[in-house]
Amino acid sequence: MLSTVFALSALAVVSHSLAIPVESADRIELASCPFPNNTATALNMYSCSNSGDTIEVKWVRITDLNGVDMYPIDPRKPFILELVAFNNGPDYEDNKVDVRVFEYQKSWSTGQCGWAEIPTFGALNGIDGCEFAHNCPLTSGDLDLKIELDLSPYSNIISMLTANSAIQLNISMKDFNPGSKHEEITCVVAQLKIN
Ligand SMILES: *[C@@H]1O[C@H](CO)[C@@H](O)[C@H](O)[C@H]1NC(C)=O
Ligand SMILES: *[C@@H]1O[C@H](CO)[C@@H](O)[C@H](O)[C@H]1NC(C)=O
Repeated sequence: MLSTVFALSALAVVSHSLAIPVESADRIELASCPFPNNTATALNMYSCSNSGDTIEVKWVRITDLNGVDMYPIDPRKPFILELVAFNNGPDYEDNKVDVRVFEYQKSWSTGQCGWAEIPTFGALNGIDGCEFAHNCPLTSGDLDLKIELDLSPYSNIISMLTANSAIQLNISMKDFNPGSKHEEITCVVAQLKIN
């Protein structure tokens, strides 16, 4: 009995001394940002609503290369962004897609959480929107666009991403019809969790 009491008080001493590292772990937890827009559990997307855009994206799905839904996303593996959309404009023979990547981070200077751009060194610019899905021309009316995003060759980009954080993909598709001025035809923001 007495030895039990001793053992318990010894445990109490141990947990007191353990309390210090636990507290500093708490502070690290407090310093990180919450997942915005419920991205902890599901993808959030919205249109940039830029004037002049002719293709309206209704919803976005992210799958692996076999079309199987995937969430959260593993940025070390290629994945497919599927955009279900409606084209109010003409047929587009050719298009190119630019993707910008942001991560939800706490600003060192302001202490506020916000989207900080991850430099991609142009790696995600000028993606051929026709090549992967073989669905060009993009005709007027309903569209199902599939864009393959593969960051796996860019370990320098992946190394800048924090595991289990929220990232934002800003996806802009441009008209590459002959004679076009490469105007934006659609723009969508996708916010999601990576692991
Ligand atoms: C959350 O999504 C809305 C649109 O659905 C957007 O306006 C807002 O900026 C998003 N918040 C963050 C923190 O990105
Ligand atoms: C996303 O990028 C496009 C093209 O650069 C820009 O027009 C749009 O305003 C951006 N949207 C957001 C939410 O950053």
